[in-house]
Amino acid sequence: MDPYKHRPSSAFNSPYWTTNSGAPIWNNNSSLTVGSRANLWQKMNIVIGCEGFRLGSFFDSRVRIMSTQRFDLQITLSLTGPILLEDYHLVEKIANFDRERIPERVVHARGASAKGFFEVTHDISNLSCADFLRAPGVQTPVIVRFSTVIHERGSPETLRDPRGFAVKFYTREGNFDLVGNNFPVFFVRDGMKFPDMVHALKPNPKSHIQENWRILDFFSHHPESLHMFSFLFDDLGVPQDYRHMEGAGVNTYTLINKLATIPSGNCFIQTIDPDHEDRFDFDPLDVTKIWPEDILPLQPVGRLVLNKNIDNFFAENEQLAFCPAIVVPGIYYSDDKLLQTRIFSYSDTQRHRLGPNYLQLPVNAPKCVHHNNHHEGFMNFMHRDEEINYFPSRLDPSRHAERFPIPPAVCSGRREKCVIEKENNFKQPGERYRSWEPDRQERFVRRWVDALSEPRVTHEVRSIWISYWSQADKSLGQKLASHLNVRPSI
Ligand code: HEM
Repeated sequence: MDPYKHRPSSAFNSPYWTTNSGAPIWNNNSSLTVGSRANLWQKMNIVIGCEGFRLGSFFDSRVRIMSTQRFDLQITLSLTGPILLEDYHLVEKIANFDRERIPERVVHARGASAKGFFEVTHDISNLSCADFLRAPGVQTPVIVRFSTVIHERGSPETLRDPRGFAVKFYTREGNFDLVGNNFPVFFVRDGMKFPDMVHALKPNPKSHIQENWRILDFFSHHPESLHMFSFLFDDLGVPQDYRHMEGAGVNTYTLINKLATIPSGNCFIQTIDPDHEDRFDFDPLDVTKIWPEDILPLQPVGRLVLNKNIDNFFAENEQLAFCPAIVVPGIYYSDDKLLQTRIFSYSDTQRHRLGPNYLQLPVNAPKCVHHNNHHEGFMNFMHRDEEINYFPSRLDPSRHAERFPIPPAVCSGRREKCVIEKENNFKQPGERYRSWEPDRQERFVRRWVDALSEPRVTHEVRSIWISYWSQADKSLGQKLASHLNVRPSI
């Protein structure tokens, strides 16, 4: 083995304990002190007189009343002897411990990962030139992370919350991250609203309690969220377990020359021809909408098999970093506004959460060879011995990859801040509600009545929500109005 290419790792095959720099540790139980318990007062004087020998801040905390039994009924103050600053192993151990926690994800903090593989079962090479989709039978290693969205790293999993469903495909042409949720739609369609949305859903900054009045206040301005709420307040809002949970990519990606979204189940896609985008009563790039399966059928692509637990929670869950911008040739972004915002957000937060070289961490690094001139920076542990770290060069044999196609669509128009034309906020949530059995509808109504009954939900907000649900389904609005004794105001 080339010792200089060795990845730093704490190994069980080490013959003895060592410091992080590899020096042998001869005692991992006790810190290095000077002095004994005898002649206490004399020793204290010596210590006080010899500042250089001790860590001053440790001093007070180690002065203690000794047990009367142990010292023949003599009550005394004693020291075990001051700890030496030169006990490098102790300082390193404590300093490392002091820094064990890293910032948790700003959303999706609580999660669990599993490893396995994706296997192509149906040929879609006519839709995409992605290497990992090249033919049935091709297998690609994956790691998946399931998560809750709103609460902290240590929060319960039983809370009503959407669930994250993120898959990293380690393909031969680099990683492909599919960063989806368990619902096929989302709360808002414009990334500008995401931070406010998360603030409203997160605990109240004053009390640190999640409160419905804040959530309902914010979303009363956003009727496009109704469809998402028809999932969240449904039985699906608290999934049975990961095994029975669907995952949906939600955002639309472009398969070269075809549009596609990856909506549900393990591995199906729905595709539309970009020329047909205007044929619907909704905007296909609007993430608050599903693509109806009777019009745009699910096409099977492959299966996802999770057959291996992770070895280490921190390395393969906390340090795991997904990003919707990480794609492979054959898959490209669409003009979906929410996706465009996400393309920026994830790597940005990861550079803060994990550091600028987070893609060198083993769980995030591609499994294929990779090379570029990004170098140095905090915690860069890539060993490089080239002299040419610029491009182009007549001396560097590195060359461009073969050109791969990107969508040829032409963009033109005025710069503008605008909302989409076909908002159509109420049709799909209403259809969804009507598709349920009466007892499921009843549970949905009860959850809304509970939420809208909270004392700090204002009369105005309550009326707006009843009005929204009336527009989705008249009978639903009437039920809510009669339970809450309110008449829709708009
Ligand atoms: C503009 C909209 C959005 C923004 C700005 C955004 C931002 C973020 C950020 C900053 C994180 C933390 C990432 C990390 O620390 O590693 C995150 C995690 C996540 N987001 Fe989003 N998000 C958006 C929309 C969505 C949507 C629509 C979905 C699902 C379809 C989604 C699914 C996820 C998942 C699954 C994770 C957790 C990934 C993991 O397990 O590490 N997000 N998001």
